[in-house]
Amino acid sequence: MVEERLGARQIAVETLLRVDRDRAWADAALSGALDAAALDARDRALATRLVYGTLAWQGLLDWHLATLANRKIASLDSPLRVILRMGLYQILVLERIPPHAAVDTSVDLAKRYVRAAAGMVNAVLRRALRERSTLSTPDPADMVRHLSVTTSHPEWLVREWHHRFSPTELRALLLANNQAAATVLRARPACRDRLLADLASAGVSATRGRFAPDAVRIDDLGAHALPTVLPEHGTLQSEASQLVTALLGAEPGLRVLDACAAPGGKAAYLADLADDRGLVVAVERHPRRAAAVRHSARRLQLQSLVSVAADARTCAQLFQGTTFDRILVDAPCTGLGTLRAHPEARWTRNADDPGRLSELQTAILEGVLPLLRPGGALVYATCTLTEAENEQVVGRALARHPALERENATAYLPSSAHGLVDPTGALRTLPHRDDLDGFYAVRLRRPA
Ligand SMILES: C[S@@+](CC[C@H](N)C(=O)[O-])C[C@H]1O[C@@H](n2cnc3c(N)ncnc32)[C@H](O)[C@@H]1O
Repeated sequence: MVEERLGARQIAVETLLRVDRDRAWADAALSGALDAAALDARDRALATRLVYGTLAWQGLLDWHLATLANRKIASLDSPLRVILRMGLYQILVLERIPPHAAVDTSVDLAKRYVRAAAGMVNAVLRRALRERSTLSTPDPADMVRHLSVTTSHPEWLVREWHHRFSPTELRALLLANNQAAATVLRARPACRDRLLADLASAGVSATRGRFAPDAVRIDDLGAHALPTVLPEHGTLQSEASQLVTALLGAEPGLRVLDACAAPGGKAAYLADLADDRGLVVAVERHPRRAAAVRHSARRLQLQSLVSVAADARTCAQLFQGTTFDRILVDAPCTGLGTLRAHPEARWTRNADDPGRLSELQTAILEGVLPLLRPGGALVYATCTLTEAENEQVVGRALARHPALERENATAYLPSSAHGLVDPTGALRTLPHRDDLDGFYAVRLRRPA
């Protein structure tokens, strides 16, 4: 039994090492490792859970490891750190692994990656088994510190959200960030029923999304097992991301600019909404990522989607004389609304990032606003939950361009999504409240 499951654990360790040592993104590193391995669906799911869970709970694991190993976890070599964290995750958090199997497989991994430290791994994890019901956490009187450790988020981020959410909501958000997100597909135009039928015949149980008209949710399948069953009628795109695209909307004949386009999920949806009979210009700063948008347009056979490698801050020069009916600014951001899909982002971001990124976001918005035709609409969106990157960026744009009108999102979203519109008229999705990624989107109109 232990021997059989080692393949999944090795893939998990290799992936966690790439994240820990090379600062790779977990989803990309895991996809690469899984593609190169011949694991069955169960082992793929186990490897996925070990990687995502270990990264999500890293703060709590490191807190306890400091006591159990009697030294600072940061002082250990990367493979030892990763093996200890993953072993402790199985003992303290992931209830379905028998604890002794967690210890034995961790010791086997240590013998492979850090032979000299196998004894230490054994001692630390056995101590965790003995002491797990009495391990202490910070005093709840210091709420920020307590939540930071017990829900495994950096203190600066808990403090940021402490100002915005009630204590009950704050705790719910932090815990929701550690859950696995459902895999969501976007059905191609008029294909939702066919997509559901394709998935059912592949043995995958799927349901309609609650909010977005083309969303199909798969609750029991890690995204990494999906390509083998992905049918031609759908493409991966989170439900919140689909709603942002619907908020901008597109129709045949319109000229649309997507100013920050890669990997191209929203740009492709915009082209589909226009029945591939308009023009979607997808601008992306990084040439390799712009090539990914081109690849996606080819895969989905979208003729109206054109990818351009350019900086949105200065791209107005490229389009001299041209204006657009619709513009999407899906800005580069801290991504703190997508911690379920990118759990490591909480450890790679820091307290200065929201302010730094809000300057870039403002520059991008200012760069493309001259391209919006009178009567045209622009959606500013992020997948994060910080005021600096959301309300403050929009507030600055409205102050600088008093003619711009802020529109109410309910006028553009299906009634199923009206409950996601906040009192200011913005679309706001929250992991703990809606079981969606945390997005923020505002629709602005330039009067005719
Ligand atoms: C949030 S992602 C966009 C996701 C995309 N809209 C989608 O739905 O697939 C932001 C993108 O903006 C790109 N980016 C960052 N700075 C940029 C700039 N100055 N000009 C254009 N693109 C930029 C990033 O490389 C990244 O691909």
